[in-house]
Amino acid sequence: MKKPKIIISLILVMGILFSLAACQSSNTTKSGDTSGKKIVLGFAQVGAESEWRTANTKSIKESAEKEGIKLQFVDGQQKQENQIKAIRSFIAQKVDVIAFSPVVETGWDTVMKEAKAAKIPVILTDRAIKADPSYYKSFIGSDFVEEGRKAAKWLVENGEKLGLKGDNIGIAELEGTVGSAPAVDRKKGFTEVLKSHPEYKVIKSQTGDFTRSKGKEVMESFLKSDKDKIKVLFAHNDDMAIGAIQAIEEAGLKPGKDIVVVSIDAVKGAFEAMIAGKMNCTVECNPLLGPQLMEAVKDIASGKTLEKRIVTKETIFPADVAKNEIANRKY
Ligand code: AHR
Repeated sequence: MKKPKIIISLILVMGILFSLAACQSSNTTKSGDTSGKKIVLGFAQVGAESEWRTANTKSIKESAEKEGIKLQFVDGQQKQENQIKAIRSFIAQKVDVIAFSPVVETGWDTVMKEAKAAKIPVILTDRAIKADPSYYKSFIGSDFVEEGRKAAKWLVENGEKLGLKGDNIGIAELEGTVGSAPAVDRKKGFTEVLKSHPEYKVIKSQTGDFTRSKGKEVMESFLKSDKDKIKVLFAHNDDMAIGAIQAIEEAGLKPGKDIVVVSIDAVKGAFEAMIAGKMNCTVECNPLLGPQLMEAVKDIASGKTLEKRIVTKETIFPADVAKNEIANRKY
């Protein structure tokens, strides 16, 4: 009579153990967090100013979804005050990690101190800040100075072939958002290389705020005053270059021929312009930072120390490779 009782008890114990194990494995998220809670990431984006930014936002949203990370996403609409407000709301919500792509380099100290006091780790993506490095765990993004250098090197190496001759090769520069890391650094890298090529002279320089419409507007005004002197356009991003190309055409000139066009990002629109013969070269700036960011978020959540600087690998695309490359472009 005793034996069946023991067997039933054994079956019951095994059943309980089995369901506990099943429960445990369903609580393990893709992020490796076994507490059963999803990691919450607050992300304050710059805005939606360019093709590049659209691709960057898509990459972040898709990667968060794929990794099972709960994303609180705020579009800062190119305004620092909006990003600061978003970061403060992430602190109030007690998110696990805060990440942001700072619209400008300075003015972050107060809110960074607040995040530090709340013990919420911060990751910078795409753009850097000028502040105490202890405010953030890592900065994931491109080397913007190097991008500026690459644009200038390509120009001086290919200038003659493109008909740029003499001691006064006038360059019009469309700068990115004033005070932003890519605008400051790309200018720095470009100028640095041109120092040893004094025949290339930046004769016009103004911000186009990284947008197509502003790029067009500023180029129109450049052409009004210096149509005959401008031989090169250096734009800090493809969107401004594409806007400026329209202005060049409307002024009766041929972009890519009468004015050599060099820019940065390597978005699809630039490849289309290069295939149409209207742009000469674009330097790659990779916006697909989502997977790297989510990896970093998971690492922080599991207590790992991140590398302070994670640099994105990038190349350059002159017009003659555009036709073959366009099919491989993901943004
Ligand atoms: O910070 C990256 C820059 O921001 C990209 O070059 C530009 O297109 C974007 O708006």
